[in-house]
Amino acid sequence: MAAGSAPLEGRVAYITGAARGQGRAHAIRLAQDGADIIAVDICAPAADFITYPPATAAELAETAAGVEAAGRKVLTREVDIRDLAAQQQVVADGIEQFGRLDIVVANAGILSWGRMFEMSEAEWDTVIDVNLNGTWRTIRAAAPAMIEAGNGGSIVIVSSSAGTKATPGNGHYSASKHGLVAITNALAIELGEFGIRVNSIHPYSINTPMVEPEAMMEIFSKYPQFLHSFSPMPYQPVNHQGKKGLQEFMTPEEVSDVVSWLAGDGSKTISGSQIAVDRGTAKY
Ligand SMILES: NC(=O)c1ccc[n+]([C@@H]2O[C@H](COP(=O)([O-])OP(=O)(O)OC[C@H]3O[C@@H](n4cnc5c(N)ncnc54)[C@H](O)[C@@H]3O)[C@@H](O)[C@H]2O)c1
Repeated sequence: MAAGSAPLEGRVAYITGAARGQGRAHAIRLAQDGADIIAVDICAPAADFITYPPATAAELAETAAGVEAAGRKVLTREVDIRDLAAQQQVVADGIEQFGRLDIVVANAGILSWGRMFEMSEAEWDTVIDVNLNGTWRTIRAAAPAMIEAGNGGSIVIVSSSAGTKATPGNGHYSASKHGLVAITNALAIELGEFGIRVNSIHPYSINTPMVEPEAMMEIFSKYPQFLHSFSPMPYQPVNHQGKKGLQEFMTPEEVSDVVSWLAGDGSKTISGSQIAVDRGTAKY
């Protein structure tokens, strides 16, 4: 892309959970769009009850390499989003290096499975603490810096289809993701006067390590009535070979298309919105 023509040229984005999965895809896509990137991840197990593998420091380094390959600058750090001081520090360091902060993608999150009336206090508390409280800490660390930078901007909060509908078998996750809708909508009003937009996205079935078909099958075989809440996607795109094919999952890059749009000026009229990224599933 010619110099000056990239849609996010000169802007800076802070992305949490950026070592892999959707966070990595967003980091690389926003870099391709012209932004410098502050990328953080815990790069370790967030809790001992999580059954899918944790992200690693090597994966965060791969994200950094992807950003650099797009010709942009990157600052990476191992940060737990439950740690407000660590998030404030990396935001401050990023602004010192890159000069401003325009975009936040609050993406880090965890998932586990079980019925709410049986799970441990630790499991309930930890999922709420990472997904809801941790995301609030991301906002708490980044929003004052965005206001101070004075350039307005866009915050994208990564909720889930579980943030707008019932998902039996992960009610703690659903509660945390519903909470993010409340944060998004109140924040859109609080930050509006500073030229900062805030929206939530609500993905469904994205192909990342978080989605464990075995764990889901175990829950659905024990409680088949839960299956109704995890319906197939009604819209099936024509695939690249020009054939119509059933696709079980969407890709992180498809979510990045939406994040890129929300981060940029093409969505200037959109704030306080819940954007479903689910090929129509919420309509069932
Ligand atoms: N995969 C899906 O189908 C799906 C659907 C809806 C929403 N989501 C949401 O999308 C977001 C990204 O998930 P993903 O699908 O890429 O899964 P993922 O597990 O590949 O990525 C999540 C990343 O967040 C990091 N992380 C977790 N806890 C952290 C913490 N306390 N501090 C810092 N980093 C932490 C992980 O290390 C990991 O790299 C999550 O918020 C998830 O809830 C995923």
